[in-house]
Order: sequence, then structure tokens, then C-alpha cells
Amino acid sequence: MARDSETAVLEVENLSVELGIGGRWVRALNNVSLSIRAGEALGLVGESGSGKSLTALAVAGLLPDNARVVGGSIRLKGEAVLGRSEAELNRLRGRALAIIFQNPTTYLNPLLTVGAQIAEVFEVSPELLASEGGGRLGKRERRERGWRLVVEHLRLVHIADPERVARQYPFELSGGMQQRVIIAMALIRRPSLVIADEITTALDVTVQAQILSLLAELRASIGMTLLLITHDMGIVAQLADRVAVMYSGSVVEASDVASLFAEARHPYARALLEAVPKIDGNETLLRAIPGGIPAITNPPPGCRFHPRCPRAFGPCAHSVPAAVALGDRHTVACHLYRDGPA
Ligand SMILES: Nc1ncnc2c1ncn2[C@@H]1O[C@H](COP(=O)(O)OP(=O)(O)O)[C@@H](O)[C@H]1O
Ligand SMILES: [Mg+2]
Repeated sequence: MARDSETAVLEVENLSVELGIGGRWVRALNNVSLSIRAGEALGLVGESGSGKSLTALAVAGLLPDNARVVGGSIRLKGEAVLGRSEAELNRLRGRALAIIFQNPTTYLNPLLTVGAQIAEVFEVSPELLASEGGGRLGKRERRERGWRLVVEHLRLVHIADPERVARQYPFELSGGMQQRVIIAMALIRRPSLVIADEITTALDVTVQAQILSLLAELRASIGMTLLLITHDMGIVAQLADRVAVMYSGSVVEASDVASLFAEARHPYARALLEAVPKIDGNETLLRAIPGGIPAITNPPPGCRFHPRCPRAFGPCAHSVPAAVALGDRHTVACHLYRDGPA
């Protein structure tokens, strides 16, 4: 089998991040490891506050000002993300990564037509407008080619009448249409990795289903490699090949989706699968297990899940479980498995 380092688009290894909160450093991510190979979709799932967005921001080199990386590494297409200058990061992001967030309105400029703002990527990545043979085109040809690419990508995300929509302003579009525009804008750069962070959470259920089937189709048609962040196991089941379950800043179990759904090992992953998500949010995601995710400013010692865990025993209250390999690309961080597959 090929080693991940040869084939991975994204490799996060033992990433630990602290946040400055109330004058002290608080651990927000603890030894997070993830890998995504070309063409794969990895679902990163967990309750609100478990560290999913921070992980995505770290990958994109966009951590908030009060964050510091205290350990680990991140490689995008083999290139280190950590320790780079802002200019180098911009270059790496431009070539390798697109990140899409929950609320499309925030990321669209209300003063520019849809077509004009998609076309802004050509200023950052002028090579997208080069002729088929790679040569330089004249101004008019570049404008025409740019317009053609914009319309093509609006069509790719199933916007009907793309020529008309390209001339419209964001406020003229529904939330679902705006999210499609954002996806078109992300794809036009042909990123090696697309990070989608709760991108359907703000949409109503019908539109959510449409965007999810669009993502599934794009995975098949353009071979999109995806880090799909969600609190919804149903979305993971529908779209992802692999899944990493996060709890309070740690990946507690990672495996292929089929294995996790057939036989989750970590008690938290099991509970997530038994939970019935509420339509309007994720706060009571875990009906099976009462309580909530601990505040990162005051986490319990040992395994952060132990106060809620139905199977907690001796070591759980004082020792942090390390990830154990159970099989090919299947890991679990739980004392129940510290002697291997139980
Ligand atoms: N800039 C920040 N300052 C202080 N706390 C933060 C900051 N960003 C995130 N957090 C906290 O870090 C934890 C993880 O946040 P986040 O990654 O956004 O969770 P998720 O995306 O899984 O809901 C949460 O407790 C959140 O409140
Ligand atoms: Mg989030």
C-alpha cells in the first residue's frame, strides 16, 4: 500500500493549538491528525465547539490572532503550512485550497455583480486566463475567456440561466443560489482541496438537500477532494468516504464511513450515531448521553469525554488516551482499546 505522505492532499499530524483566553493559554486542539487523499471526502464531525472550524482555519493558515500552534505539522500537497509568511501562505492557498463557510452573504460583496466578483479570481490567478497553449492573450480575448469561464462555472453548479445570474447582484439571489455562487467561485481556481465548513447549516432543509447532492455530483464529475465539516452524521453518511469524529479538541475515532456506521468503537462516536439531531440545531445532538461538551477553559482531566462516558473506568479520569491503530487507517483514542482491537 502506498504511504499517505506520497498520496495525501492534506496531512495533519498531531496538531495542537492554544488560544489566549482571559490572560492565559488554553488548549483548544490536542494532537489532531487527519489525512485526505486525492479524490477523497473526509467528514469532520462533532458537536458545536469541538474544534472543527479551528482545525479548518489552521489548515488554511487563517487561525485567529489569539491562537498559537504549540505542536504538530500540516502539509498541503506536501508543502508545510505552518511557519510560512503571509505572502507564501497566500500563494499556497491560491493554488491549493478553497474554503467555504456557513453564511454566503458574509462572503459576497453586495456592490459587485456575481460575474464581476467571480472574475476577481483572475486578478489573483491570471494564469487561469492563459490561452489553451499557455500563451498570453490580448485584453479583449482575456475578458471574453473570463466571462466564458464564469458562465461555465455557474452552469457547473446548476444555476439556470447563468448569463443572466452573472449580471445580478447577490441580494437578488436566494441563500441557496448564493451558496452555489460561492461554490462556483471556489471551484474556478481548481483547488486541490475544498474545505466546506457547515455550508448547508444556514439553509432550509430542501435547499440543503439540493446543495448536498450538488457536492456529491461535483465529487464524481470533477474529482473534488473535500474536507467536509458538519455536526450532522446524516451528511457524513451521504457524502463522505472517511470520517473523523472530534470531541473537545481531539479526534476520538477516524475510519472509513462504512466501518464507523457498522461498528463505531469510541463510546462518543457510538453515541453520536444513536443521537437524533434536532432540525434547528445541534445543541442536543447527544440525546443518548446527557450533558454537554466541556468548556475549553475548564476541561476535565484525563479523557475529556470521561464524565459523560457510559464505559469510563480506572485510567479515564486521569490519563489522556493516545490514538491506537485498529486497522488500515482506522484509529481510536480510548482506553478501552489501548491493548489493540478489543
Ligand atoms: N478566537 C477564539 N477565541 C476564543 N475561543 C475561541 C476562538 N475560536 C474558537 N474558540 C473556542 O474554541 C472551541 C472550538 O471552536 P470551533 O473550532 O469553532 O468549534 P466547532 O467548529 O467544532 O463548533 C470552542 O470552545 C470555541 O468557543
Ligand atoms: Mg464551526
